Amino acid sequence: MSKAQFPSIRMRRIRQTDWVRRMVAETRLSVDDLIWPIFIRDGENEREPVTAMPGVDRLSIDLAVEAAKKAVDLGIPCMALFPNTHPDKKTADGNEACNPENLVCRATQAIKSALPDIGILCDVALDPYTDHGHDGLLEDNTILNDETVEILTQQALNQVEAGCDIIAPSDMMDGRIGVIRDALEFAGHTDTLIMAYAAKYASAFYGPFRDAVGSGDRLKGDKKTYQMNPANSDEAIREIALDIAEGADMVMVKPGMPYLDIVRRVKDNFHIPTFAYQVSGEYSMISNAAEQGLIDRQSAIFESLLGFKRAGADGILTYFAIEVAEILNS
Ligand code: PBG
Repeated sequence: MSKAQFPSIRMRRIRQTDWVRRMVAETRLSVDDLIWPIFIRDGENEREPVTAMPGVDRLSIDLAVEAAKKAVDLGIPCMALFPNTHPDKKTADGNEACNPENLVCRATQAIKSALPDIGILCDVALDPYTDHGHDGLLEDNTILNDETVEILTQQALNQVEAGCDIIAPSDMMDGRIGVIRDALEFAGHTDTLIMAYAAKYASAFYGPFRDAVGSGDRLKGDKKTYQMNPANSDEAIREIALDIAEGADMVMVKPGMPYLDIVRRVKDNFHIPTFAYQVSGEYSMISNAAEQGLIDRQSAIFESLLGFKRAGADGILTYFAIEVAEILNS
């Protein structure tokens, strides 16, 4: 009788040809897995490259609508919109976040009226709007929690009234999911989805994003009093449990690649739609390494995204979404 060891067992048998490798693949990447984050700016017919993110542009609203059209044609289910707010509109309290005519609201309205069938996700956090670059209200070097939650709730309602489908609080204040959920219910927005940036770490990999939204140069200090310590894992589980209890429909882990263990723990523990954000620094590392000929761009992109799926993510926010969807569709 053959024994369960070499040579009766040869692991390479299932790797020998493309067809068998495809047949035994445990995870797959599909266009349905992709959420595409884009940056919005003022003006018309404006496309302004983000220096820190080669290949990514800030788009005026008319071009954002065209971009959304492309996403719909490729089958991408959802886009995330981030505003590059004019410096004149940035204040200490970030109250431009609550202006119904702000960039992100106008972009949401324009995209939803042209393309009602694509999901629109909007961040809830004050950093695109504050003159100090923090996600919350700053007083004597402290980020005020409860006062920030109040303004975030107004921001969320404002975005929902503009047509946003998914509210994604990325601010990491305590208790905000519950307060926002109650406010949405009270206002009759019973179907609004909440994707909580539930386990969001204080990360160096957000650097290029802060350039894209124009908050990087302003940021005083760091975000370590509200974003998580990269050393911690159990704490992420507590954060996720709280956000689910407070009414989140979906949760997110962020950044992506250095935190795949967290994605796996979350998926195994909670069985809830779980997303990962391949953040700006991850995008720029892959892009720049490929640009310099150090790695193969397409293989590196697909390997990185498959890694998220293997870790248990149901979907990925990625700046590569269009490029990946084009390849998957071809
Ligand atoms: C805002 C926010 C950040 C990102 C998404 N929402 C930056 C930050 O928290 O400093 C980062 C996304 C990226 O790096 O691609 N709170």
